[in-house]
Formats: sequence, C-alpha cells, structure tokens
Amino acid sequence: MPESPSPHAPERIYLDSAASTAVRREALEAMLPLFTADFANPSAHHEGGRQASEALEGARASVAGVLGALPEEVVFTSGGTESINAAIKGVAHAQADAGGARHILTTEIEHHAVLHSAAYLERFGFEIELLPVDEFGLVTSEEVAAAVRADTALVSVGYANNEVGTVQPLAEIAEAVRARARALGRRIPLHTDAVQAATSLALDVDALGVDLLSLSGHKFGGPKGTGVLYLRRDVPFLEQLSGGGQERQRRSGTENVPGAVGLATALRLAQEEREAFTRTTLALRERLLDGIRRGCPEARLNGHPERRLPHNLHLCFDGVEGEALVEALDALGIECSAGAACTSATWEPSHVLLAMGVPLDLAIGSLRMTLWPTITTQHLDFVAVQIAPTVERLRGQAISG
Ligand SMILES: Cc1ncc(COP(=O)(O)O)c(C=O)c1O
Repeated sequence: MPESPSPHAPERIYLDSAASTAVRREALEAMLPLFTADFANPSAHHEGGRQASEALEGARASVAGVLGALPEEVVFTSGGTESINAAIKGVAHAQADAGGARHILTTEIEHHAVLHSAAYLERFGFEIELLPVDEFGLVTSEEVAAAVRADTALVSVGYANNEVGTVQPLAEIAEAVRARARALGRRIPLHTDAVQAATSLALDVDALGVDLLSLSGHKFGGPKGTGVLYLRRDVPFLEQLSGGGQERQRRSGTENVPGAVGLATALRLAQEEREAFTRTTLALRERLLDGIRRGCPEARLNGHPERRLPHNLHLCFDGVEGEALVEALDALGIECSAGAACTSATWEPSHVLLAMGVPLDLAIGSLRMTLWPTITTQHLDFVAVQIAPTVERLRGQAISG
C-alpha cells in the first residue's frame, strides 16, 4: 500500500518532461569551461580557436557515434524547430531545383515545426499531403508507401508523437518508402522528427533507415537552444542559414560550442540509460494511471496502449477544459500540460487528437503528464489522489457556469 499522501505537495511536482528537462550535471560540467576559459571562436586561427574547434569536433564525433553516422553528417543547430525547418525546406528546395519534385508527404499528427514548414512551402508551389492516422495515432508503412509519387521530394514521419506518445513503425516505413522509391527509379529522402525519442528509443540512423533526423538538446538533459540535424551525405540540401559557411556550408553562424558539448554529453548518457529510463518511467506511469483510474475510472487513455513512449501519460476527461485542469493542478503544485506546451500559447483543440478521431468535447479536456525517473512514488500518489476531486470540481463549475 502506498503511504497516505499529505494534503499538500511538499514541493512542486514536475510532470512535463516532454516540454523540457533540467540540464544534467554532467552536461553542465562539460559546458562550463567553454563559456569562460575556452571561449574562442572555433574558426579562429590561434590556439584558443583550435581548442574550441577540438571541443566542437569532439561533440560532433560523439553525436555521430550515438547515431551510427559519420561526423560530417552531423549539423549542430539551435534546436528541434531549426533542424526540422532546415530538413524540410532545405531538401524541398534542393529537390525542386534538381528535378522539379514538389510533393511533400507527411502525417496529420506532426509537430507544428513540421506542419508549418510544409505549409510555408505551399507558398512556393509545393504540394503538401498529410496522411491520416488511426485511432491510436499510427500510420502504416503500406499507407506511406502507397502515397509516395514519382514527384515526391521528401517524406517526413515523426518517430514518437510529442502529445500522445505514439511510436511509429519507423524502420518499416523507411523500408517501404525505399522499395517504392526504387520502383520509381528515384531517391526519395525520409526525414524523422525524433525530438521526443532520445530518452527511450534507439537512434541508429542505418537501423532506422532514415536520411534526415532532428533532435533537440533540452528534451534529454541538454541545454535549450541546441539541436542536431543528421543529414545523410548524399541527400540534396540547400542551406537555410547563409553566411560564413560554418557546419560545412549547411548552417552558417558561429557555432554554439558549449551548447554542442552539453547536447553531446546529454545525448550519450540518455542513450546509455535508455533501458533503465524505460523500465523506471513505465513502472511510474502504470502506478500513476492506476491511481488516477481509482478516482476517475472513465479517464480515457489517448495514444497507443503499448506502442508509446514509456514516460507519456495522456488522458481525456469529459466535461472539463484541459487548460482549466492544468491551472487547477498548478495551484496544487503539480506541473503538467494540456496537450502540447509548444501550442499552448494559442490554445485550441489538439490537431493530434482530432486527427485520431477523438470527439471535440473530449479533445478539449486533455491532460499530458510526462515523467522522469527521479520522480518519487510519493509525489505520484499525491498527484493521483488530486485528479479526481479537481476534475469533479471543474465539472461542477462548468455545469453551474
Ligand atoms: C516532436 C517535437 N518536435 C519539435 C519540437 C520543437 O523543438 P524545440 O523546442 O527544440 O524547437 C518539439 C518541442 O516540443 C517536439 O516535441
């Protein structure tokens, strides 16, 4: 039996690791000297510059090792959004220049960085096709391959969804896209938004069969404002940031050396700890879900029951608004999200839930809780007993209002 929880949380309980994570100590320690002692510009032709360049190239080799890639295929960026923008716009423009391919294929449940990059390309004459998903947020390899056309410039399928946590059969999709491209006598690059994947899923780009892959440092214990774009050697690409030609002409701008080193350190550790992370957060999630269901048996789990990120719990409660629920839990010291943090500035029902066929009245009552291995069971038990009375209270307000 869990200890009976106290009526007030002793401190704030953070259940929003999909939105951001703390920089881990090892990453911070690796970064610190690069802000003060070894701060020179890595392009500079002096000893300080050479040392900074060495640190940067060490980080690149480390990331390449994790991805099973070549160091020159790793481009450091300012985050997931930039990596995704570069991947989609960079490949689309290069492909259109080379042979006129102007069809971009992706899914309805991608992050807005993907969807809005694709929408942007529509203004330049590209045709965007969004594949539907099933009730769990899955797309099949057959569906993706069947939609690939002779004029497809790029396919982009997210590895794991940031809202509901559904994990796509990416390697199967990649194989099917390759087979279809071969039949068409073309090379059609596949990009994946792997921003949510690094803590629990394998990232070997050859095993996955992807040509481009986007990562964001702050989702796995690295610093904010850091990202990686993996860009397979032979993929046509037009740079999106022009200037001094850094990152082998693919991303100009003085490199964020401390950021790259912090990201590389956190990525290596996150991938080494993948199994332990999965085991621990899965057990925590089951405990939290059981606890919530004791008070709210009607809570609906969104996303796939098994093919999902281990630390993601995404629920809908009818008769409440997700935003109101998040505010009420915040007042109790519990930090979580109504759907996705990135979209909550302009709150509207989640495009992911609507694409999965969740009815609108349920979709507005969604709550995402994303865990971390250091969360205590006492804290989770506290959260679990707070949900039912909070939901009941908000339902009462909705009726009387
Ligand atoms: C799946 C996914 N893609 C892209 C992003 C954007 O990443 P960043 O915040 O580093 O720009 C996020 C952020 O939440 C995400 O979850």
